[in-house]
Amino acid sequence: MKKMTSGELRSMWLNFFKSKGHAVIPSASVIPENDPTVLFTTAGMHPLVPYLLGSKHPAGTRLTDVQKCIRTGDIDEVGDASHLTFFEMLGNWSLGDYFKKDMIAWSWEFLTSPEYLGLDKDKLAFTVFEGEDDIPRDDEAAGYWMEQGVKPENIYFLNRKHNWWGPAGQTGPCGPDTEMFIIRDQEPCGPDCSPACSCGRFMEIWNDVFMQYNKNAEGQYIPMEKKNVDTGMGLERTVCTLNGCKSVYETDAFTGILAKISELSGKGYEDDAATTKAFRIVADHLRTATFIMGDPRGVSPSNVDQGYVLRRLIRRAVRYGMGIGMGEGFTSEIAQVIINQYAEVYPELKQNEAFVLEQFKLEETRFARTLRQGEKEFAKVVSRLDGKTVIDGVDAFHLYDTYGYPIEMTRELAAEQGLTVDEKGFADHFAAHQKLSQVGAEQRFKGGLADNSAQTARLHTATHLLQAALRRVLGDEVAQKGSNITAERLRFDFKFGRKVTKDELAQVEALVNEWIAADVPVVMTETTVEAAKAEGAIGLFESKYGECVRMYTMGEYSKEICGGPHASHTGELVSFKIQKEESSSAGVRRIKAVIGAKPED
Ligand code: ALA
Repeated sequence: MKKMTSGELRSMWLNFFKSKGHAVIPSASVIPENDPTVLFTTAGMHPLVPYLLGSKHPAGTRLTDVQKCIRTGDIDEVGDASHLTFFEMLGNWSLGDYFKKDMIAWSWEFLTSPEYLGLDKDKLAFTVFEGEDDIPRDDEAAGYWMEQGVKPENIYFLNRKHNWWGPAGQTGPCGPDTEMFIIRDQEPCGPDCSPACSCGRFMEIWNDVFMQYNKNAEGQYIPMEKKNVDTGMGLERTVCTLNGCKSVYETDAFTGILAKISELSGKGYEDDAATTKAFRIVADHLRTATFIMGDPRGVSPSNVDQGYVLRRLIRRAVRYGMGIGMGEGFTSEIAQVIINQYAEVYPELKQNEAFVLEQFKLEETRFARTLRQGEKEFAKVVSRLDGKTVIDGVDAFHLYDTYGYPIEMTRELAAEQGLTVDEKGFADHFAAHQKLSQVGAEQRFKGGLADNSAQTARLHTATHLLQAALRRVLGDEVAQKGSNITAERLRFDFKFGRKVTKDELAQVEALVNEWIAADVPVVMTETTVEAAKAEGAIGLFESKYGECVRMYTMGEYSKEICGGPHASHTGELVSFKIQKEESSSAGVRRIKAVIGAKPED
């Protein structure tokens, strides 16, 4: 097998397809322009969907490129040998031009010709679609492989799970595919060992998709008049396989990044399994985050959509980075290495360099603040133990969920005080939450917020806490004048005679976050206006004397008469951040604020 760098494989690919009449097109943005059903560009064909469906592409009917792709579905698996949240995909397309015969012949040529990959013909295996219902078995594709000299025993017919691709979003072009594998020098894992099993004997390197169907919103597969080819080869994985590397992290794509992590942490990539995992997570997540922020449509960390995924990536990297001893500011130092490494292939990274580095610094600072708040919460958890020595699973999970405390950190802090953690309890909560996130993620993909009313209830509950905190910090003069809620934020207008200072706003924010962290229940009682007043409830007292009203109490913090929807616990708000304070009208101030995305959203 040929040893090859990422750069060599990139140019070899593009040159090969140029020689077959393809136009080289640039990578599209990692944030899709045409598809609101997904957050990121997940494959090379994704930005090309309109053309696969029949629009004329300005560069012609044969295209090739290297596309930046992001797949964050398996973020928790990152750290193993092969999962990356960002990768480059080598691709080529026929837009109603050539089809199976040419594509299979070219695939064979690229894989086996000494001018290109020069792979050993007997060490290659192929899978094709076995067929189902109205869709026939793909004997055509198998036949073309055999024409090239592939032995029938190296062709495997597999089902939809393995040999069907697409659509990239909810709807769009899709079809049967044929996948190409390198057979490694490793004994079969059993009599049924095949590319379908995960024993590692078969390494996938390329996928040719024959897009002949369009899946519509009703879930039907409509045959397309013009058939397309869409192929994809993962750059990092293929370089890894060609060079016989144990993992993608040992390829040249990561050499510089891992060296920087080593320099900043004083540790070695192979010190022990936990350190290797931390190196990989930091390297992968920061590379992905750099490409998200450095994109022409780049975003900054936030609590919604792409910004939220970005925030999770950065914070997970920071946690693991801290775990191996890297100090504050490390993310931007590593990002600098990533930008320099890719500047030539992706000039947008250099163009957005200042923005990217600044955003990394800001997010690290914000996260450090959250973690400090978590320290206080940890102290509270300990004080509630009352002589017991085990921190229960609910508390450990709360520290993880709300403050980003990984279980290792809670365990370590506990050990310092002679305490242990109910790890089984934590694991149970964690598993339940994973299930919820999965359901949530699926709903999220179905379009927009899974449940607008739940989001409104959370923002509305935050408005109660905000008003209560404003009254604590600024005095009882504060009184609600108006409130407005959108899916993204709350807006609260209140009577107050002057600008609220930065320091006061910080105090208000901290109070609300403290109350969210306390995770007290939101208790509703039906009472009368005068009884509520007597208990110290605030609210817009328009209700008539004697009328029955609903009063909402959140611990000692807030008591308010209200008719709106509410969360059941303050913890559901996750976190609270004031975005803006301004004048609304004479004597009335306006605050806009956001809350943390619920992991389930
Ligand atoms: N779109 C196909 C894939 O991502 C080529 O595997």
